[in-house]
Amino acid sequence: MTDLLLTGIGHLVTNTGEPGDTAPVLDAAVAITDGKIEWVGATADADSAETIIDLEGRAVLPGLVDAHTHIVYAGSRAEEFAKKLAGESYEAILAAGGGIMDTVRSTRIATNDQLMDITSRRLGRMAGNGTTTVETKSGYGLDVETEVRILKTAALLAEESGVEVVCTFLGAHVVPTEYRVRRDAYVDLVIEGMIPECASHAEFIDVFCDRGAFDLDETRAIIEAGIAHGLRPRLHAEQLANTGAVDLGVEMGAISLDHLDHVTPEQAAKMGEAGTIAVLVPGVTLQMRTPPPDVASLRRAGVTLALASDANPGTSNVELMTTVIALGSLLFGMSVEESVWAATRGGALALDRGDRGQVVAGSRADLVVLMATHPAHLAYRIDQPVVYGVIMNGEIRHMAGSRRLI
Ligand code: NIG
Ligand code: FE
Repeated sequence: MTDLLLTGIGHLVTNTGEPGDTAPVLDAAVAITDGKIEWVGATADADSAETIIDLEGRAVLPGLVDAHTHIVYAGSRAEEFAKKLAGESYEAILAAGGGIMDTVRSTRIATNDQLMDITSRRLGRMAGNGTTTVETKSGYGLDVETEVRILKTAALLAEESGVEVVCTFLGAHVVPTEYRVRRDAYVDLVIEGMIPECASHAEFIDVFCDRGAFDLDETRAIIEAGIAHGLRPRLHAEQLANTGAVDLGVEMGAISLDHLDHVTPEQAAKMGEAGTIAVLVPGVTLQMRTPPPDVASLRRAGVTLALASDANPGTSNVELMTTVIALGSLLFGMSVEESVWAATRGGALALDRGDRGQVVAGSRADLVVLMATHPAHLAYRIDQPVVYGVIMNGEIRHMAGSRRLI
């Protein structure tokens, strides 16, 4: 017998069409068994089930997939943020040993329990608002012990929360202050010390390949070492300046290239040809007050778009993918359908999780129920809570009883 049947879904995003097409089904029903979608159809054709919930016209989306975050860290950088709003530059703060290094210092001195406590509350907020799969990076340790500790914390978080947490090793986030005069020694430490210790705790490797972070040669050496240890590459690319990170990333077979504020049309074409996914992070655009990336060129080149929060204490203190969908449309000129698709199926493809981000028989039963009848409310009611319920791996995480439709 079917475990759970949802009926009366006013607008069901199935994402079964072409990229960017949410292929909605109206007045839909979804049957779930053993953590998987068993059947999708019209409410009138639905069978029976152990539990039946009438959603009374609410919209339902696949669980939100956040393909780029940095959520395992301690401390706050609110004061730095205030300084940036007053005109100080992010890169100058970074060069002066603040910024990322500030979070590194807070994270290194946090106990395991403190780190777990802070990050599980962070992930709880994300999951409560519909994020059912999240990628997170190390990168606020920058020594072997703390990098490993961050990745182990991420694994514990997954166990505790039920959210699938995909881990990326980012020991090459920035050269830590203590290595500034001998950056070669730090690259060696990443390659010889960190990668062998971290490889079994991560699936992907990332490098902040940008002006003021790591150059192309350093990035190439680190990514090659990661690949040799079974890690798959993805890169922070062309965020602060165009340094050629996209070309290197495509050449090295990166599954995704992220940020892309300074991507050129030629680079977009390369990504389109190679099938490299663009992970766009509008929370950064909002909080850094920078111009948006050239989404039109990426779209024209046929690049698959994903939207992610890039949740981190420095450049995007934005945790909720519901907000990211709104920003994708309001800042990047993406249609609501495009934004919703990019935050679900796009994110799933960026993480090589083809079993989710769609509502189709056989896919993982991760669903978000909105308090609204149409996904446009995500952007239209940007200052309102819009999530009514979350189903994760077939289990109801929460389903508020009495909220009226917005
Ligand atoms: O994705 N670009 C590098 N890393 C982060 C920023 C981290 C920080 O400032 O703490 C990012 O923007
Ligand atoms: Fe990032």
